Parts: sequence; structure tokens; C-alpha cells
Amino acid sequence: MDKVILLAGTANPRLATAIAQQLNIPLGASVVERFPDGEISVELLESVRQKAVFIVQSTSPPVNDHLVELMVIVDACRRAAASRITAIVPYFGYARADKRHGWREPITASMVAEVLQTVGINHVVTLDLHTPQIEGFFHIPVDSLTAVPILCEALRHRLPSGFVVVSPDTGRVQMAIQYAQQLNSSVVVLLKHRKSSSETEVTCVVGDVSDRPCLIIDDMISTGGTIARSIEALLKAGAHPEMIIAATHGLFVKKARAQLSHPSVQAIFVTDTIAPKETDWQQLHVVSIAPLIAAAIQQFKTDDSINKVC
Ligand code: R5P
Repeated sequence: MDKVILLAGTANPRLATAIAQQLNIPLGASVVERFPDGEISVELLESVRQKAVFIVQSTSPPVNDHLVELMVIVDACRRAAASRITAIVPYFGYARADKRHGWREPITASMVAEVLQTVGINHVVTLDLHTPQIEGFFHIPVDSLTAVPILCEALRHRLPSGFVVVSPDTGRVQMAIQYAQQLNSSVVVLLKHRKSSSETEVTCVVGDVSDRPCLIIDDMISTGGTIARSIEALLKAGAHPEMIIAATHGLFVKKARAQLSHPSVQAIFVTDTIAPKETDWQQLHVVSIAPLIAAAIQQFKTDDSINKVC
């Protein structure tokens, strides 16, 4: 493979730096700023000609800014004759807009995929996509890694005996099974009903939680509403008031911290796909995915299978 250059957008420079350290290479020199009117200004301070460029940028909130920033960096690399451009998008924003719920709705995840390809991305690496079929919105290779093994390692010695893995909705059952297999437990599924775009309720607990501590897993925590409703339903169904939460992407928007500050919550584990905002939250544990991403880039360098690092 051509020489590698690792560039960072502004979504999570700390993660990009950690990946560079793991790879033992310096972070590529670039300046990403805003013009006075808010438009994005990018300058690459070193040549990328015939280099394999990897750009680390989660499209996390503010999602539109981070998305356009990624596109502008890609455009700069393409015009500067990079040989290959790989977007490392640890958190893929708009992933939940993956289907139409009504007649006059967009499929925004599909549109984002189209736009990213149009600007010149050759390859995407992402993590725990909301739904695997999002890969199908791309015509270029997409490697969707998973943080489940990393989170399981972090959780392994923190889990109370007799715990069950809880999927907060039917969409997360496969992920819950992965956790249960790796942590040697069983799965309980909650049936979630969406009352509005911001409000959900649990209509049924499928499985026995009587007197059992719970590990509630999810791909992402946004407002914390899904987890908060899950806790209420599990306690109502007789679960032991000892809840551990694990999710790949910790967005923690709006009143998420208040929603998750329930006395039964012992610990919350997320990864650093999104730059952590909360530094004084005792229950919050952030596990780095930098070694995983670095291992994936290493596989690119040697043209080896990414499957080996998953
Ligand atoms: C929904 O399908 C997702 O997997 C998450 O459960 C959801 O997006 C989390 O959002 P919030 O924390 O706002 O409930």
C-alpha cells in the first residue's frame, strides 16, 4: 500500500491522536477552521499525493457541521491527488433514518451515503452501525467493526452474578446475543413502542428478570429515554435494582445524564466514538476504540483481512 496519512476532523481529535499513537505515526498536518460566516475552511499542510489517506471523523452532533467538514476534507484530499481516501466514521450520524415511516419522509442515511461517495471517498470504516443494511446504501466497500468485544472485556469483572443481558428493543437482539455469548449469560428482550420522535414506552418484557441484575445494552444512548424507560419496566417486572448500561456510542444529548441518574444504575460503559463531554460523571466509563481502529488500518496497510480484528 502507498504511504499512509492519518488526518483528523474536529469531531474527536483526541481519538485520532490515540489512533496515530497506536500506529506510531504522526497525525497528518492540516488546519480545519471556520470562516467568520461559519463556512468550513480546510488546508492540508503536507502533501497527500499518491498517499493512502485515512480521515477520522465521527458525524456526531453537531452532525451537519461534522458531515460537511468530512466532505470538505475529502474534497481537499481528492484534489491534492491522494491515491485512496478512507473515511473512518466511528459514529455514523443519520443512521436511524434508514427507512421511511411515512409517505413523505426521506431516507437520510441513504442520502448521506450517496453524498459521501460523490465527494470521492473510496472506502468507509465504521463501528456498530445502527442497522447492517446501511452498508447497502454504499456502492463502495464498508467495513463495519464492532465494539462489543472491547466493551465485554471492560465489563467482565464489573458484572454482578446472575445478571441477564437486556435488549431494549427488538432491533438490538443480535447485539444482545453477542454480549450474552461473550459474557456467558442469557437474553431478555423489551418491546419498545415509539410514542413520538422523542418519547418511547416499553410494552412488554420478554423473559424472566425476577431478582436478576441487568446489563442493558444498546448501540447508542442519545437522550437516555430508551434506557430510562427500560430501567422502569425491568424494575416493575421484578428485576434486582442493580443496572449496568453498555452502549457503543454515547451521544448524551439533552437531559441524558438526568435520565440515567437513577439510583439503580451502577455504571455506564460507552466507547470514545464520540468525544466524551461529561468528565465528572462517576458512573460513566469510557473505553477507547483506538486500538481497534489502528488494528484495522494496519490490516489495510498489509492488504490483510479486516475480519481478523473484529
Ligand atoms: C433506537 O433504535 C436506538 O437503537 C437507540 O435505542 C435510541 O436511538 C436511543 O435513543 P435515546 O437515548 O434518545 O432513547
